[in-house]
Amino acid sequence: MKVFFKTYGCQMNIHDSEIMKGLLKEAGHEIVDKIEDSDLVVVNTCAVRRKSENKVYSLIGRLKKGGHKVGVTGCVAQGMSEKLSNYGVEFILGTRAIGSIVSAVEGLKKIDLEDRISEIDSQTPVLRNQKKHAWVNIIAGCDKFCTYCIVPYTRGRELSRPLSDVINEVIMLAKNGYKQVTFLGQNVDSYGKDLKDGTSLAKLLELSQAIDGIERFWFLTSYPSDISSDLIKVVGKYPKISKNFHIPAQSGSNRILKKMNRRYTREEYLEIVEKIKKEVENSSIGGDIIVGFPDENDDDFEETLDLVKRVRYIRLNVAPYSPRPGTVAAKYYEDNVPFNVKKTRMSRLNEIQHSIEKELNEALINKEVEIMIENTARKVSYGRTIDNRMVAVDEIIPEGEMIRVRIEDFKFGTLYASSRRVSIFA
Ligand code: SAH
Ligand code: SF4
Ligand code: F3S
Repeated sequence: MKVFFKTYGCQMNIHDSEIMKGLLKEAGHEIVDKIEDSDLVVVNTCAVRRKSENKVYSLIGRLKKGGHKVGVTGCVAQGMSEKLSNYGVEFILGTRAIGSIVSAVEGLKKIDLEDRISEIDSQTPVLRNQKKHAWVNIIAGCDKFCTYCIVPYTRGRELSRPLSDVINEVIMLAKNGYKQVTFLGQNVDSYGKDLKDGTSLAKLLELSQAIDGIERFWFLTSYPSDISSDLIKVVGKYPKISKNFHIPAQSGSNRILKKMNRRYTREEYLEIVEKIKKEVENSSIGGDIIVGFPDENDDDFEETLDLVKRVRYIRLNVAPYSPRPGTVAAKYYEDNVPFNVKKTRMSRLNEIQHSIEKELNEALINKEVEIMIENTARKVSYGRTIDNRMVAVDEIIPEGEMIRVRIEDFKFGTLYASSRRVSIFA
């Protein structure tokens, strides 16, 4: 069978698609790059907001109209299987049943919403999109139950992979020429807690950075109050570990944080950020904010603006609140902030964020930075610094190469460096 994948959502979904492709390829199926060449389209879906969910239905509608066979996986498949069953799709696989992809594609399974996630380990074949950078899931699910969020319902309870299995995967990646690894989890800093054997993200990073071949390790997403002192220490200590923490605050108002069931106050959040800035040289912080959560008033929003100004994120995702079926917020709180207010709050936040990014970028002009090349497009190569800033260089440089460049300019969040390399490693 020739299969085309359309993947929505977060990095975890991207990686799940890589795993499903690997399993299909191993079973003798072909993964194609063009929808026209396929016998079947797998839509790997995201349900985080109503908009992401609706995108899925409209794509399935269009595909069916065009005569395509469609299979659905991911968070909409797990959370909205009943609705999907009216769409005449070939199969529906839940987020923890990706191991069933081969039987589903072969027509042997119509629906699988079971938890088979422990079938996936370092021995599972993976067809990765990139040759030098690899995603590695280390913990599935989420136990936090933020009141707005559908993820605990679509991804299930937290389950960490054994440390030895993750390390095995890193060793194999190094042998296969990979230069960067990103450890993934909805709460990456919860990694290991359920294993009750002393495993932690700090320990994993410390062991991993000693493996020859991989030059950089990233980790996301962090839950503010779960970031341990050990983790901060390890990040500060080892040069191969990324200095970027992606720590969504969601709001800067204690009243709203409480209603969101986020288990920290704005003061605690700012304290963690300060600790990172103090203990990790060259650190950078990324984040997410939801605007227009039920009852968010102007004062609450001003507190969020103030928090954003204090933290000085290098990157910030701002989303309007969207009620998700089954969540506490959708059941018990009225979505009472009008859409135009959500929109105004979004643009005010984005405006402030842009000026912060501009200042942070300006401070880098004429400075030398070390980047690892991640991709090339036309005559430009793009690389990342250890603190997660994108730098464009106007020449073709092989992926995975580490170079030192001088920053000359910036535009729309990307820094530009001249092609004159200061020196070459790798
Ligand atoms: N585990 C991560 C985030 C996972 S979801 C964390 O704890 O922060 C990714 C982002 O989607 C969230 O950070 C949040 O900003 C956004 N999001 C989740 N549910 C949402 C909702 N109902 N409406 C709007 N944005 C939402
Ligand atoms: Fe969703 Fe909260 Fe879990 Fe993040 S921590 S995935 S926002 S429930
Ligand atoms: Fe979306 Fe599911 Fe990821 S809801 S953000 S694909 S965990």
